[in-house]
Formats: sequence, structure tokens, C-alpha cells
Amino acid sequence: MTYHNPPTTPRKSATFDDYTMSEIRRAAATGVYDIRGGGAKRKVPHFDDLLFLDASISRYPLEGYRESCGTNVVLGSRFAKKPIELKIPITIAGMSFGLLSGPAKEALGRGASLSGTSTTTGDGGMTEEERGHSSILVYQYLPSRYGMNPRDLRRADAIEVVVGQGAKPGGGGMLLGQKISDRVADMRTLPKGIDQRSVCRHPDWTGPDDLEIKIGELREITDWEKPIYVKVGGARPYYDTALAVKSGADVVVLDGMQGGTAATQEVFIENVGLPTLACIRPAVQALQDLGMHRKV
Ligand SMILES: Cc1cc2nc3c(=O)[nH]c(=O)nc-3n(C[C@H](O)[C@H](O)[C@H](O)COP(=O)(O)O)c2cc1C
Repeated sequence: MTYHNPPTTPRKSATFDDYTMSEIRRAAATGVYDIRGGGAKRKVPHFDDLLFLDASISRYPLEGYRESCGTNVVLGSRFAKKPIELKIPITIAGMSFGLLSGPAKEALGRGASLSGTSTTTGDGGMTEEERGHSSILVYQYLPSRYGMNPRDLRRADAIEVVVGQGAKPGGGGMLLGQKISDRVADMRTLPKGIDQRSVCRHPDWTGPDDLEIKIGELREITDWEKPIYVKVGGARPYYDTALAVKSGADVVVLDGMQGGTAATQEVFIENVGLPTLACIRPAVQALQDLGMHRKV
């Protein structure tokens, strides 16, 4: 007769919570680190935590029936011949084609155009669905350069040089093989059905001096018409903002650690970077110190 040990419940750890313990067991069993999408699950200060200062004596209230509160934002007036104007200060961030389908891109474009704001392409290039339905489309220039071509640069309304994302500042990307359809593979000139990694840094510049040259090239290709954004993940917002300004950006896009992502290592999502709210103040300070506040 064989004797089986009765199943036991693992002992609780005083140091690590149940999730951490289960993660250690999973990683030991499979030998792979966890990759997932979505944003950070930890609690960080969020826009819902903001409190607003209302009008009193130092700020005169608007007369609600006769005066309106403008919410429009002009982006790109520093250098671009054709700045863009958003009706609301909310935009749709870049999401890769492959992670999002063509119909999802179309839906975002339609919604954003109705609301008077922009959408953004992502890793994998520009689709006809989003160009056709977004009245203002920002084209991402990413380290991977998947789907990048000068023709689409010229069809965009603004260009965003992606240095990093909040969920994985300094990290590359991952698109799982199941998502690489014929069309996605074709746009990326890579094989179908195989996991694709996006590199973590641009191959053609290493610092602000050559980023400035790259931005100059992008301006020449687009005849100095398009606003150029630089997107950085929340890491060192004061210095990164100052160097983006130095490199010639019209707009600095700051993305905090709680932000969503297509897929990346869980340890990046939860443990790397600063929340957006913590980035804004140092970034504004950098703009003020450079005399660029409200210009960039
Ligand atoms: C599904 C998905 C795909 C994304 N793909 C890209 C991408 O291709 N390029 C990029 O710069 N950021 C990408 N991101 C990050 C977003 O642009 C944005 O920075 C992030 O979602 C933070 O905004 P949130 O706080 O509104 O989530 C992606 C995010 C999601 C959720």
C-alpha cells in the first residue's frame, strides 16, 4: 500500500503576502517572470485625489450665464507652422496596432473627433481606420520603428517621439504571438504568430544632443509644419523635461507609473517610476526655470 502525505496548506509568511508567495511558487514552477497588461494595481495618488481652489477675492468667479470657461489647448506653438488645437484638455494616448484592432482604432478616432480631441498611433504603425476617423492624429516615432515610414509622418497632425512609457520607463515592449495576425506581421515586416519585442531605446540617438538632430530631421521631413512631442515615462521629470525642451520639443508628454500598457514585466508595472501627479510639479518647475512655461 502506498502512503500519500495529506495535502498541506503552505505556511503563511510574516514578511510576504499571499500574492507574493504564490508568485514565487509560480515562478519556481514555470521559470518565467510574469508579463501582463493593464496598469499598476498598487494605490498611488490619482487625479481623483485632486482638490481644487475655488474663486473668492483673489480669483474673480466667471458669470456662468454670460461667460464661458474655455477648455481649449493649443499645442505646438513653439516651433510648428501648424499647431493643433484641442477643444478639451484630455487626449487618447498611443496604443499599438496589434494590441488594439482596426475597429477599436476606428471607434477611438470617432469618439475623439466628436469630442474635439486627438488620438495617437502606437507601436506597429498607422492604420487607415485611425487616420480616416481621427480629425487630429498624433503619430508615434518609437524605438522599434515597427510600421514607421516618412509618408505616414507627413499624413499625421503631430509627431510624438516616444522615449518611454510610464508603466515601463526605460523598458521595451512585448506583443504576444497570438496577436501577430497577417496584417500586423505585414506592417511590422516580421513573422506571423511569434512573440515580438520592441527595443528599449532608439537606435539612432543616445542623448539630448543627437535627439535634437533627430527632431530636426523630423521637422525637415514634415516641412516644419507638425508639432513635435517627446513622451517620457515618470522617472526624473525635472531633468527629462529640461532635456526634451533643450532638444527642441514643442510638447513634453509625461506618463506616470500607474499608466496602462500593452504588456510588460509585472515588476516594472508595480515597482518602477513615479506616479503622474508626482511628476507634474518638477516638470513645471523645469519649464519655469527655462522660461518655457506655457510655451512648451
Ligand atoms: C493597450 C495599450 C497599448 C499601449 N501601447 C502603447 C504604444 O504603442 N506606445 C506608447 O507610447 N504607449 C502605449 N501605451 C501606453 C499609453 O500610451 C499611455 O501612456 C498609458 O496607458 C498611460 O495612460 P493611462 O494612465 O490613461 O493608462 C499602451 C497602453 C495600453 C493600455
